[in-house]
Amino acid sequence: MSTITTVKHLSEHVGKTVTLQGWVYNKRSKGKLHFVQMRDGTGIVQCVVFIKNVSEESFEEIGKLGQESSLRITGEVKADERAPGGFEIGVSAVEILQCVDGYPITPKDHGVDYLLSQRHLWLRSKRQAAIMRVRNQVIYSLRTFFYEGDFTCMDSPMFTPNACEGTSELFEVPYFDRSAYLTQSGQLYAEASAMAMGKVYTFGPTFRAEKSKTRRHLTEFWMLEPEMAFADLNDVCQLAEDMICYVVKDVLAKNQSELADLERDVSKLEKILPPFPRLTYDEASKILLEHPDSEFVAGTDFGAPDETILSEMHDRPVMITHYPKDVKAFYMKRDPENDERVLCVDVLGSEGVGELIGGSQREDDLEVLEGRIREHELPMEAFQWFLDLRRYGSVPHGGFGLGLERFVAWICGVEHIRECIPFPRTIQRIEP
Ligand code: 4AD
Ligand code: MG
Repeated sequence: MSTITTVKHLSEHVGKTVTLQGWVYNKRSKGKLHFVQMRDGTGIVQCVVFIKNVSEESFEEIGKLGQESSLRITGEVKADERAPGGFEIGVSAVEILQCVDGYPITPKDHGVDYLLSQRHLWLRSKRQAAIMRVRNQVIYSLRTFFYEGDFTCMDSPMFTPNACEGTSELFEVPYFDRSAYLTQSGQLYAEASAMAMGKVYTFGPTFRAEKSKTRRHLTEFWMLEPEMAFADLNDVCQLAEDMICYVVKDVLAKNQSELADLERDVSKLEKILPPFPRLTYDEASKILLEHPDSEFVAGTDFGAPDETILSEMHDRPVMITHYPKDVKAFYMKRDPENDERVLCVDVLGSEGVGELIGGSQREDDLEVLEGRIREHELPMEAFQWFLDLRRYGSVPHGGFGLGLERFVAWICGVEHIRECIPFPRTIQRIEP
C-alpha cells in the first residue's frame, strides 16, 4: 500500500511512490505513452503512463478514459522543473472508478451563459478552482485578522423584520402569519453586538433585490461587517486599510500557483501597501466634473463609471469620505463641520473595480437618529430596539461592510463577480 496524498503535498514525497485520487482533466497519447493531466481539487499534475510500467490491459483502458473519468493513480513522484507545478508522476498502477465519455465542458471555448448553466460542472475547471481556493484563503485570512485583533464573531440573523439599507431592494418572504425580509446587511445587529462585546464582526450571506445587471451585482453575496465601539471615521478607515493589506499579503504568500493559473499580474497586488489615498466626496467631485469622460452631476452619488475613473487614478485602493447625507443611509453620523455631509467612507479597489467597502461612523445621538428615521420615512416602532443602543450607554462607534465576492474578484483580477461565489445568484439566474 502506498501513501495516499494530494497534488498540493507532492513536494513532501519526491522519490517515493504515492497514490492520488481524482479525475482526468486532460489526456494525450503518443505511441507507448499516455500523458494524463489529473486533477484532485488541490491542483493538477501530469501523470506519465509508460506501456512497460503497467499491465497491457491497463494501458489500453487508460487510452479510453475521457475527460472527468474518476480514478486512483499510483506512481513515483518526480521533481521536474519543466512540469507545471514542478512535479510529475511516473505511473505504476491505475484503478479506474468510472470511465466517462461526453463530458459537457471541453477545453474549447464555451459561452459564459452555457458555462453558468453548467456551474455544477464548471467549478471543476482550473480557473474556477483557482478562484475558489483564493476565496477560501481570503475568508480564512479575514477571520484570522479579526480574531487576532480581538474582534468577536457575532453573526446577525438572515430573517429580519425591517429594512436596513433602503426599502427598494428587499426580498420579502412569508414568515408564519406575517412577512419577513432577507437581510440586506447585518449592521444594525452588529451595532447591538458591539455595545455588548466592544469589537465584533458579522459574516454571512446578504440579499439585495437589485435590479442591476452589472458585473458587480449579485442578489445573494457574502458580506463581512466589523463594528467597533469607541471608534470614529478615522478608526474605521484605518481598520479597512489594515484588513485589506493583511489579506492581500496572505494571498500573495499562499496562492502563488492560483494567481499564476489566473494570469494575475501580481506586481499590482504587491503595491497594495499603506497608506491608501483618501479623498473627500467634494475633492472627488471636482476631479469628476473636470474629467472629459464623466457624466457626474454635482451633489449626486457616484455611478460605476465615476468609481472606475477615480480608482484608475491610483495603484492602490482609494478611500472616499464625507458624502452628501441625501445619498447615504439613515444611520450615518452627520459631519459636525458640515450638516450636509456624513462621516462615511467608500473604499474603491484599484484597477477600476469600484466599490469594495462601504462604511461609516454611526449616529449615536438619540434625537438626531430619530429625526433621520422620520426623514427616511422608516417605521419608528420597528427601530425601538436600535434606538435603545442610543438610550443606554451610547458611545461613538462605527464599522463597514466588505463585499466578499467583489474583494475576491479584485484580488484575482476577475472581471465579473459571478465567478467568485460557488453558485451565483443574479437577477437572471437561480439555477443550478
Ligand atoms: O455599501 P453597502 O450597501 O453597505 C452596507 O450594507 C452597510 N450596512 C455596511 C456596514 O457599514 N456594515 O454594502 C457594503 C458592500 C459594498 O461595498 C459591496 O462591496 C458589497 O457590500 N455589495 C454587493 N456585492 C455584491 N452584490 C451586490 N448587490 C452588492 N451590494 C453591496
Ligand atoms: Mg455602498
